[in-house]
Amino acid sequence: MNDATPEIFEPSQEFPDPDAQRRLAGLIGIESHRERLEKGLRLILDPQAIEAWSERHHQRRLAAIDHFRNRPPLFILAGDVGVGKTALAETIGDAVARAEKIGVTLFRLSLASRGTGLQGQTTTLLGSAFTQVGDQAARAKSRQGKARAGCILLIDEADALAQSREATQMHHEDRAGVNALIRGINDFAVRQLPAAVIMCTNRLTAIDPAVRRRAADIILFERPTEQHRRHILDAALIDAGFSAAQIAKLVAVTGEGKNRLGFTFSDLTQRLVPNLILDAYPNQPLRFERALEIAVELAPTPAFRDEAPT
Ligand SMILES: Nc1ncnc2c1ncn2[C@@H]1O[C@H](COP(=O)(O)OP(=O)(O)OP(=O)(O)O)[C@@H](O)[C@H]1O
Ligand SMILES: [Mg+2]
Repeated sequence: MNDATPEIFEPSQEFPDPDAQRRLAGLIGIESHRERLEKGLRLILDPQAIEAWSERHHQRRLAAIDHFRNRPPLFILAGDVGVGKTALAETIGDAVARAEKIGVTLFRLSLASRGTGLQGQTTTLLGSAFTQVGDQAARAKSRQGKARAGCILLIDEADALAQSREATQMHHEDRAGVNALIRGINDFAVRQLPAAVIMCTNRLTAIDPAVRRRAADIILFERPTEQHRRHILDAALIDAGFSAAQIAKLVAVTGEGKNRLGFTFSDLTQRLVPNLILDAYPNQPLRFERALEIAVELAPTPAFRDEAPT
């Protein structure tokens, strides 16, 4: 089904998929983000659903629904590092596929193929990415109602596409890249294809304003709250015999302090917890006192400063 060339896309993924379902279910504290993105994507695949909602709840076709017509199918996930932007973008297709009872294909724009700065390259790359995804989506589009399948084009680290703006000599080419992006998104909207674009970025301000303006939704991600940290640490450590009071202490030291930021989700799941295990393994059990020392020593990932390019 997928005839994409490997240089443009990473291997594509088909949903529903049990691994993706598990990963998505494991994301903590971003339920509202997930819901917003899922609803937005579903309404693109099944545009008539909003009319059905209107009839059901207002017994008429509301004027407000017109604002959903030709809505650009672009969603931007922005925010700090290691908070689940990529994880959500990579797995949300599973929730959409299950809810709509159709297949969804995820195309990920290859990172390796970008940013080498050759004249015209970005434009050509984006142009063919949109063409390929658009072709597949066109085959799945139904004349009436819900599409038979859906496509998601993921542009991760989307600021990398815009980065060359900082070098003035690249200005022209970069502008062309931005134009190709806008053209592709508009094309999906005008043809009402069952296809959407998700862009992830640490630096919302590095995304061209013309692109930002077209987003159907911009979802902002933040570091985990105290409650989220407790949730993660409970799940990871309660069966090792840590008491609620000990976990509360770990929750406190991984939070924001006088001179430091709180831990990110990935600081907790990919650094702290594995570090505790590696420290104890193979001769010791996990112990609270040692866990506390390690947590205090481990510095959280620095914030990604969202500065406008100069
Ligand atoms: N909300 C979350 N709940 C549970 N685990 C999370 C969450 N967010 C991130 N993680 C863990 O951190 C890992 C990295 O997250 P992800 O790659 O999605 O971060 P990101 O926001 O895309 O960061 P970056 O801006 O650095 O690309 C995930 O694979 C997961 O293990
Ligand atoms: Mg990411």
